[in-house]
Amino acid sequence: EARVGWERFEQLIAEDKRVEPRDWMPNNYRKTLVRQVSQHAHSEIIGMQPEGNWITRAPSLKRKAVLMAKVQDEAGHGLYLYSAAETLGTPRDELYEQLYTGKAKYSSIFNYPARTWADIGAIGWLVDGAAITNQVPLCRASYGPYGRAMVRICKEESFHQRQGWEILYTLSHGTQAQKQMAQDAVDRFYGPALQMFGPPDDESPNSKQSMAWNIKRFSNDDLRQRFVDMIVPQAEALGLTLPDPELKWNDERGHYDYGDLDWDEFFSVVKGNGPLNHQRLAHYRAARDEGAWVREAAAAYAAKQQQAAHD
Ligand code: ACO
Repeated sequence: EARVGWERFEQLIAEDKRVEPRDWMPNNYRKTLVRQVSQHAHSEIIGMQPEGNWITRAPSLKRKAVLMAKVQDEAGHGLYLYSAAETLGTPRDELYEQLYTGKAKYSSIFNYPARTWADIGAIGWLVDGAAITNQVPLCRASYGPYGRAMVRICKEESFHQRQGWEILYTLSHGTQAQKQMAQDAVDRFYGPALQMFGPPDDESPNSKQSMAWNIKRFSNDDLRQRFVDMIVPQAEALGLTLPDPELKWNDERGHYDYGDLDWDEFFSVVKGNGPLNHQRLAHYRAARDEGAWVREAAAAYAAKQQQAAHD
């Protein structure tokens, strides 16, 4: 049976078709997906923190409503992604536990602080912009539930990017101090946003196999390049500069060249030593502990309803 399953799986991948939860799949394919999809879900959940922190300080009622909607979207993305991960056979509680105990990874970017209102703009423009660039190709990921979850997520992410761009545009056309605040936010978020795409290709142990399985469609460096090419003209339209003196159009390559990123910093953040790793995890744990009674009550109520239906 495994042999038939293997052949069918290989054929699905070769024909660029979708693998669905009930299909036979190799163990490593399943493991890779649980790893990537759960890390992605954790990123959405932890990613609520830098922005959630600004909801009470948004500069107008309208901006507050928009920011609340956006943070709620991130929660929704996390939940779709946990659902997609669950279809691979790992229960959601196990995934939560991995995040709670600090065993799980989530995106490096969310370990940086959102210091000013302009950071909310930079997060929307650069962080969500990088997220979409990475996620649009994931809509075609070979695993059905993951690819389908990505479609809606990408639509919401493009709204997020627009709202970030608009915050920065308003600030950069405001007073000198506001423009400076926007520039400072871009200066701090540019490098870490480029690192969201993961390590350089020659240091990315998972890329080759994930690309062969049609999970990833482009390499980390290819997507990073695509993102740089996209944001250079956007930065010009904003009237802001990107903090890289080596950023230059290369006619021969048909792309912008850009300078080396600080990979020591990246690996240190991924290992848990970024500016806010401890705080992010502590906040997650506290929220989870404080919500335990709600989950227990909901489970007890559901059990009671089920019992009543049987009686
Ligand atoms: N932050 C933290 N860890 C990272 C990052 C990052 N920016 N980039 C790579 N890593 C980790 C990988 O998870 C992997 O760790 P593991 O092997 O222990 O699981 C290791 O570094 C090596 O990297 P790669 O071999 O390149 O890993 P992979 O093939 O999984 O590629 C990538 C990494 C591009 C992030 C991929 O997993 C992906 O596309 N994920 C889905 C998108 C996503 O998670 N986005 C989250 C941020 S967007 C948002 O939430 C708004």
